[in-house]
Amino acid sequence: MACVKWLGHSAFEVRIDGYTVLIDPWLSNPMSPVRVEDYDGKVDLVVVTHDHGDHLGEAIEILKRNPKAVFASVYEVANYVSEQVGASERIVGGNIGGPLRLPGIDLKVMFFPATHSCSRGTPTGVLIIGNEGSVYHAGDTGLVAEMALIGELYDVDVALLPIGGHFTMDAYQAAKAAEMLRAKTVIPMHYNTFPVIQADPKELEKYIRERGLDTKVVILEPGQCYEFGKA
Ligand code: NI
Ligand code: MN
Repeated sequence: MACVKWLGHSAFEVRIDGYTVLIDPWLSNPMSPVRVEDYDGKVDLVVVTHDHGDHLGEAIEILKRNPKAVFASVYEVANYVSEQVGASERIVGGNIGGPLRLPGIDLKVMFFPATHSCSRGTPTGVLIIGNEGSVYHAGDTGLVAEMALIGELYDVDVALLPIGGHFTMDAYQAAKAAEMLRAKTVIPMHYNTFPVIQADPKELEKYIRERGLDTKVVILEPGQCYEFGKA
């Protein structure tokens, strides 16, 4: 089984096919149950969707403390990280499209469009596919029609979707995203970290039912895991 553990905000630990992957590792967020040092020597891959501080988070520190960990993001963000970490062979700058080639990591990692802003490169969502299952992290985004293409081409076991509004989609729009992605399970993120992104995650369940979807909605507490996929 694969599992996703919510670390607050948009930060997740994904365990899949024996790898430990951190996505958008802002581990100092106000809801975080973990510290950077908890992951010393345990991280195989760090994926960052865009370079806003609440997503790049402590990625650079984590890479310095985990000398074998691979980093993946869009090209311009990876260049910035490489300048800071100084280990270019494990800092992989890709872009939106087909799977990245990641040294020593036998997972399919693909970036998809997100509608948002950023300082370097372009914002993304990321789909990670292993033998045990698949997880899509939408990053920060409004609704993008391209999500329907992801649902058409790939099986999405778990979709991690922002619901806080203001900077991203809200729960009403996230229900439409879940429909387009044909996700089996959705987990809300990017809410209640700050007053401006207050949201009730139960609204996501309500809007998904109103759409007549059989998508499972899993509301995690920070530190809680959800197991999914094949044994
Ligand atoms: Ni952002
Ligand atoms: Mn954000």
